[in-house]
Amino acid sequence: MKIPYLSTPIYYPNSMPHVGHLYSTLIVDVWKRASKLFEVPSYFTTGLDEHGQKVAQAAAANGYSPLEHVNALSQDFIEFFQKYNIEWDFWVRTTRRDHEHAVHAIWKALKDRGYIYKGNYSGWYSISDETYLTQKPEQESDNIVWREEECYYFKLSAFEDRLKKFYRDNPHFVYPKKRYNEAMGFLRQGLKDFVVSRPRDRLHWGIQVPDDPQQIIYVWVDALTNYISAAGYPNKSYDNYWPGKHVLGKDILKFHAIYWPAMLLAADLPMPEQLLIHGWWLNGDAKISKSLGNAVPLDELVRKYQVDGIRYFLIRGIELGDDGEFREELVKTIVHSDLANKYGNIFLRMLGLIELQFGGKLPDEFNSIRNKEAEALKKQVEKLQASVEKFIQHPETINRYADIFLQSIVMLNDYFQNNKVWGIEQKEQQAASLYFLMDIFKKITILVSPIMPETAQVVMKILGYNEVHMKHFDTRLTRSFISERPMLFPKIS
Ligand code: MSP
Repeated sequence: MKIPYLSTPIYYPNSMPHVGHLYSTLIVDVWKRASKLFEVPSYFTTGLDEHGQKVAQAAAANGYSPLEHVNALSQDFIEFFQKYNIEWDFWVRTTRRDHEHAVHAIWKALKDRGYIYKGNYSGWYSISDETYLTQKPEQESDNIVWREEECYYFKLSAFEDRLKKFYRDNPHFVYPKKRYNEAMGFLRQGLKDFVVSRPRDRLHWGIQVPDDPQQIIYVWVDALTNYISAAGYPNKSYDNYWPGKHVLGKDILKFHAIYWPAMLLAADLPMPEQLLIHGWWLNGDAKISKSLGNAVPLDELVRKYQVDGIRYFLIRGIELGDDGEFREELVKTIVHSDLANKYGNIFLRMLGLIELQFGGKLPDEFNSIRNKEAEALKKQVEKLQASVEKFIQHPETINRYADIFLQSIVMLNDYFQNNKVWGIEQKEQQAASLYFLMDIFKKITILVSPIMPETAQVVMKILGYNEVHMKHFDTRLTRSFISERPMLFPKIS
């Protein structure tokens, strides 16, 4: 059986990770956790793109060998992601032997089929983007230099028609539509063969071309291959996972939408299932990036809004595909309004009432609640569950999932308010209402646990469960609450 597979891009370890890296990785983590919750198998890969000039330069600038440098950065990235409770299945490192083996295998497949040939190249080259420019730059800089060298080419031009057909036949291949159209635009402009190796004296930190010690494989061919090497390619069993879907940022669309599919067609391997293209987190008008050094320090935000506050903000604060600003004010607004005022507060109020009226323990016997508003609330929880299940199949629906979570919490608050649950005089009636609402709260918590795993743990523990699991979804509440009153998302004034 094929296991659903979702990857993040692999990150350049040329400086410390930031919120842009966290975002792709978080989307896949939420998907992985949702899959796990519903016992759907899943495969989540992320990691580092360790070769290339930029990485070698960063290592040299710090006085390290490239390998020492990437070993240290790999640890830094792992710790960074672990802090946000990211749980991948496979940590990619392009310096791994098995990855190199896979790159050699795909290279040989392309060469044997006649899609790689030797030639010469000269042109304007951007060091920071590790790519040749298509046009002469307006002005020269240390970053943009003229180059001439012997190299291998990949016959991209041979795939123009096949890719056009593939795109026409697969209108949902790239999400969102505007990025699909952008990919079509690349195809309409026409495809030129591209350089897939560099002379060793230009680039030493990379994987050698098989049987040509003078040439090093271009970093994008190396990097893109991670999506199949992480699945075990060239071992046949790689098709337990492949083809998969890719989550990535809009700046690397062309590599994923054109180069990678062409390489796969050339090697006669299956195409990816889908590309999910997200926008950028901005600081002011500028993309947050290591080169600009404009990343917002996350540690302090985590201290104030907690890991789950940041996770929630990254999902809620941007529509997948759009750009959005990453600023403390915005984090604060969303965390306070959705999580502190609505989610955390209703829990506290219910716990407080149970404590006050029933000494922390609801009576065992009472009638169940039946009224229109209660039915609507139950329906809403079903809608939330359906949205999680849909998200597992269609990760591009992540925002809808978060929206429906919020709607559910709003409805729960409204019920509490409209029915003045705190003032119900008949005790049995009040107990029944509280039981009903707390059960709804439990269900919402289980369903939002992929986005807020730590919070869900805390809540479930208070409700008497030792784990967050769907098996507790329909079980009766213990009704013996710990007389603890947690501030789930304390407000920062
Ligand atoms: N190594 C290549 C990717 C190879 S994938 C086969 C690379 N690395 S990167 O570290 O520069 O960027 C990795 C990803 O981070 C990209 O998808 C990029 O869009 C994303 N982000 C980097 N900064 C970002 C923001 N400020 N906002 C959102 N994502 C951005 O490119």
